[in-house]
Amino acid sequence: MGKILGIAVQNYGTLKSIKMGKLFSDQTGNELGNMVAIIGPSGNGKSTLADAFGFISDCISTDVESACDANNRGGYDQLVSQNSNEPIHFEIYYKENQNSRPITYELTIAKDKYNRPYVKEERLRQRRPGIKRGWPLSFLYLIDGKGYAFEGVEGGQADDGTIDGDRKTVELSDTRKLGIVTLGAMKQYSRIEMFLDFLKSWYLCYFTPDAARQIQTAAPNQYLNRTGSNLNNVAQYMYRENPSEFKKILAEIQTKIPNITKIEPIRLQNGQMVLEFWQKGFEQPFFSQRMSDGTLKLFAYYLLLHEKNPRQLVFVEEPENGLYHQYLANLAIEMKKNVGKGFSKQLFVTTHSPFFVNALSPNQVWVLEKDINGFSIAKQAAAYDFVKDLIDEGASMGDLWYSRYFG
Ligand SMILES: Nc1ncnc2c1ncn2[C@@H]1O[C@H](COP(=O)(O)OP(=O)(O)O)[C@@H](O)[C@H]1O
Ligand SMILES: [Mg+2]
Repeated sequence: MGKILGIAVQNYGTLKSIKMGKLFSDQTGNELGNMVAIIGPSGNGKSTLADAFGFISDCISTDVESACDANNRGGYDQLVSQNSNEPIHFEIYYKENQNSRPITYELTIAKDKYNRPYVKEERLRQRRPGIKRGWPLSFLYLIDGKGYAFEGVEGGQADDGTIDGDRKTVELSDTRKLGIVTLGAMKQYSRIEMFLDFLKSWYLCYFTPDAARQIQTAAPNQYLNRTGSNLNNVAQYMYRENPSEFKKILAEIQTKIPNITKIEPIRLQNGQMVLEFWQKGFEQPFFSQRMSDGTLKLFAYYLLLHEKNPRQLVFVEEPENGLYHQYLANLAIEMKKNVGKGFSKQLFVTTHSPFFVNALSPNQVWVLEKDINGFSIAKQAAAYDFVKDLIDEGASMGDLWYSRYFG
């Protein structure tokens, strides 16, 4: 469980210095909600922002050097903001549940003397229990792979050197790997483990209908992968775990997909699972391979929203691609409803669609603009003049955006 209340990114491509939500280092903003839509003209950094989340995920699953090279990032020199001599830096302000104290994670990636990217600095901080203000204690602090960490759920070191709890000296053997990955693998560093589990559960969705049409070998998968190519495997998993619940989910989803009257899981003799889509007016069902891009996409999104033990943070890029515009408002409403208000799921969506944005409120929409130097800045739609007033008077966000009141 958990969500991010804010994020700051520095020197990551066009994101030379952006801030969204509330941070430890800057408490002026509103905390991010469970639904965050990011809009803005092409080239303003929406995909770069999605990729920043993907980059952090890749740093966890591999190492920072591999992450710089992965996903067409082209290596550190291409990735770092042009004309910047500063390292890549992330700050994540995280809260596990309503009653917990926020945790700040800072990560700095720079180049070593051989020009290889490495983890220059990593720090986790949290305030003492019962204290609302003041400086938090560091419970992990590594510079060039050397520093300290605190076991358990309390303790840490203040900036003046005061120590609460049991401080352990740490030295990493590989400075391309994140300290939170090494230490989070050990039970005794329970706070680090919990934060790492949160980061590990992030999911970036780049769903492509063609991938979903591929015939997969039988293997139940708990979660959809980035492209959605394991759609049937996820269906197989959900069916195996709880057939009656899965049928209920399908019954619910089929009401959301136009012209589909029924979706049924069919088990083939080899154990593979296929989905039959019954379409209005036809006597025979269609298999997923024959379904339209839009139907498959909608189906995958709704399946994603019904995941059991959902991923904590889901980032979807441009869900509108291949979808009829009238379906988008409903999709946005369902997404909003699904993430709710608690700490179970947070959804980030980039979009160009006013129809999607129409379902949202000024606090849920962020605009990426460009500053005079060509770098991105993030601004909450609520911060534009008149937007909140016009919404209070009954206007819709997408209409205001389309009419250029903001964005
Ligand atoms: N290292 C870099 N420094 C500064 N800008 C960069 C760097 N790498 C790419 N860019 C710029 O970042 C932008 C990327 O935009 P992108 O995130 O794809 O936008 P969107 O998804 O909003 O269309 C492009 O305009 C590109 O020129
Ligand atoms: Mg893009």
